[in-house]
Amino acid sequence: MPSPAGNIDFAAVAPQINFLMTPLPPVSITALAALFALTSAAPVTATELGTVEEAADRPFMHHRVMFMHEPSTKAAVAWSTADALFDSHVVYWDTEPRHGDVGKYAFKTNGVHSHPYTLTPDDRGNKIPGNIGHHVLLEGLKPATTYFLVIVSGEHQSREFHFVTAPDDDRSFKLLFGGDSRRGPKWPAVHEERRRMNSLMAGLLEENPDIIALAHGADYCAKAEWTFISDWLSDHEMTTTKDGRLLPVIPSRGNHDRGITFEEIFYWPRRDHDFHFATDLTGGAVLLTLNTEISHAGDQRDWLASTLKRYRSGAPRWILTQYHIPAYGSVKEYAQGESQRQHWVPLFEEFQVDLVMEADHHSLKRTVPVYQDKENAAKGIVYIGDGGLGVPQRDPDTSRWYLQAPGVSGNGHHVHLLEISDEKIRGSAIGPGRQVLDEFEIRRR
Ligand SMILES: [Fe+2]
Ligand SMILES: [Fe+2]
Repeated sequence: MPSPAGNIDFAAVAPQINFLMTPLPPVSITALAALFALTSAAPVTATELGTVEEAADRPFMHHRVMFMHEPSTKAAVAWSTADALFDSHVVYWDTEPRHGDVGKYAFKTNGVHSHPYTLTPDDRGNKIPGNIGHHVLLEGLKPATTYFLVIVSGEHQSREFHFVTAPDDDRSFKLLFGGDSRRGPKWPAVHEERRRMNSLMAGLLEENPDIIALAHGADYCAKAEWTFISDWLSDHEMTTTKDGRLLPVIPSRGNHDRGITFEEIFYWPRRDHDFHFATDLTGGAVLLTLNTEISHAGDQRDWLASTLKRYRSGAPRWILTQYHIPAYGSVKEYAQGESQRQHWVPLFEEFQVDLVMEADHHSLKRTVPVYQDKENAAKGIVYIGDGGLGVPQRDPDTSRWYLQAPGVSGNGHHVHLLEISDEKIRGSAIGPGRQVLDEFEIRRR
């Protein structure tokens, strides 16, 4: 097993740290190992999940929640069962804890959408167990409210979980962003780095109860096939806090997510888009998720233009975007972002998007403020990313103009914690041992 700091390339990160707004203490690999030892206690431990095969073999698992539209009033609750006949599937929920006493919950539904996960010939060759996916869309929820729920499938009853709906006013809030949680070439070895990042996110959620969700910049697995996705969903359980708070996911789609299983795990009843959608994080902030795996022009560009126009009219609000393949990447060829720069970036600039979150390159970056392909402190847009939720990391091309100071580029697993208040976005990139790899602030324009 690699050391906790095995993928942190401080030679790449350290020189840029000088340009951060807040000076950071010197960090050594030894110090990181010690930090990790103090912070690695996981709500669902790797031992509890066991091996990949043991995790995949459970008859009742993958309890989770997803946000897509209107997270102040709607949430999709999902889970997986063994491919077997169960008496029934029921979700019970309430705004008070009922400690699993199903007779006491104010609400229940057996209106569950159940579907067998597609198995490919490779899945069958891997002898991965077949499973059934279940989804329930809870609607008519109250904003900024804690909902307690239990899920019952036949003889199986979950612990009491809870999640918190998004606010609909303009209060301060936090958001996690990260991408690229697929494994390297080894399977079925446990994905240690991904589990470590998921434990980190559970800890951050415990300490920051105003985190609304994890915006996932995509590339969940090597392939969107059940062999890998089942493993991702099992590991995702580690993002749940010790006391059962679920971390909602706002999904985007990446180049490794083109298979049908992506749509099966992120099933949303009456979905009316091809994974480009607007999420009202609060009454004062919106996240636009774009899809780099379909045409960037045409319908998607038209939707982006009209949505930006709508959100930029009326009261001032923060506009953030997330998508997978970067316009201003850190590792792969610059030409890879040409289409995004042609079809999306001019709209970002026209409507003065506040922050763009990208992934795919397996590194850590923050660009200078970019406007019309030049640094521009007044009108420029900052692009952060590029994916470090457990995928093996790569070295960035530090010579790119938009990664020069005050930009940052480096190499190491990380998740971004964004703290968004009326006057600013304060962001930090946090590594698996709690080391702060980058910090920045974006002021309201
Ligand atoms: Fe990718
Ligand atoms: Fe990736």
